[in-house]
Amino acid sequence: MTRIVYVNGRYLPYGEAAVHVEDRGFQFGDAIYEVCEVIGGRLIDEPRHMARLERSLNELQIPQPMAPRALAHVMRQVIKRNRVRDGLVYLQVSRGAAPRDFYFPGPDVLPTVVCLARPMSRAVPAANALKGIAIKSMPDIRWQRCDIKTVMLLPACLAKEAARADGAKEAWFVDGDGFVTEGASSNAWIVAEDGTLVTRQLGSAILPGVTRTTLLDVLHEEGMVPVERPFRLNEAYAAREAFITSATQTVMPVVRIDGNTVGDGRPGPIAQRLRNKFHQFAAISGT
Ligand code: PDD
Repeated sequence: MTRIVYVNGRYLPYGEAAVHVEDRGFQFGDAIYEVCEVIGGRLIDEPRHMARLERSLNELQIPQPMAPRALAHVMRQVIKRNRVRDGLVYLQVSRGAAPRDFYFPGPDVLPTVVCLARPMSRAVPAANALKGIAIKSMPDIRWQRCDIKTVMLLPACLAKEAARADGAKEAWFVDGDGFVTEGASSNAWIVAEDGTLVTRQLGSAILPGVTRTTLLDVLHEEGMVPVERPFRLNEAYAAREAFITSATQTVMPVVRIDGNTVGDGRPGPIAQRLRNKFHQFAAISGT
């Protein structure tokens, strides 16, 4: 079956799907995106992803490319046409294609919209969650608006590659004051030595993860009170548990940070419980 990709109003075979060489997403990283989990052909937490997409567009003054209902329709079409049951849908909006110029182009230049979906076995993250993953920390060399979900992901690619070279699955960025900001493509959490669940507060240093937000709902229902504050690596090394959250990993236990064993080196009970509960609380939209 040929994969189908949506590009600017057309559903094209994967090999033919292309954007202009002077697309600003390509030349300047002038584009934003969303990744939404798909389970059983249904979208997880779609309203929150779409709200964040809209916010990212507004922050960068990229015009809304089409009505939210139309975007929702495109995502469903791409999922259906690719017969994705379990996987993800990726939606990217750039400021459009125009002769290279740092200034924004005029209103005649329309945003570029790309949407693709791909199947992903749920067995792989499930197996990882049973073992837990390793983290490598590194300086946060990203820009000061990490709250906007842009495609300027080179620091994240470098960090993840360095993590992989060290046998770790994810990187945790550390700011100039020695506090963990977030993962290269996830939010960072610990269960501190005293049992407090800690994750960094929202602000321009981290992406407001949709999984993070929904997990706060789960915690509320569970009667758990998380503390949103910065934490240092030393606190993480000594933590009872650690985990990451993202649309593609849900809640993924962390068992090693920079070679230091977290807790007893096995996925912690809180991370496991939250992982199992998560989808009961997420919004699930039919296609
Ligand atoms: N990344 N922080 C960063 C820097 C991220 O890139 C992501 C997600 C998150 C978690 O956000 P959410 O819970 O909304 O997925 C936090 C996606 C999955 C990616 O780039 O593939």
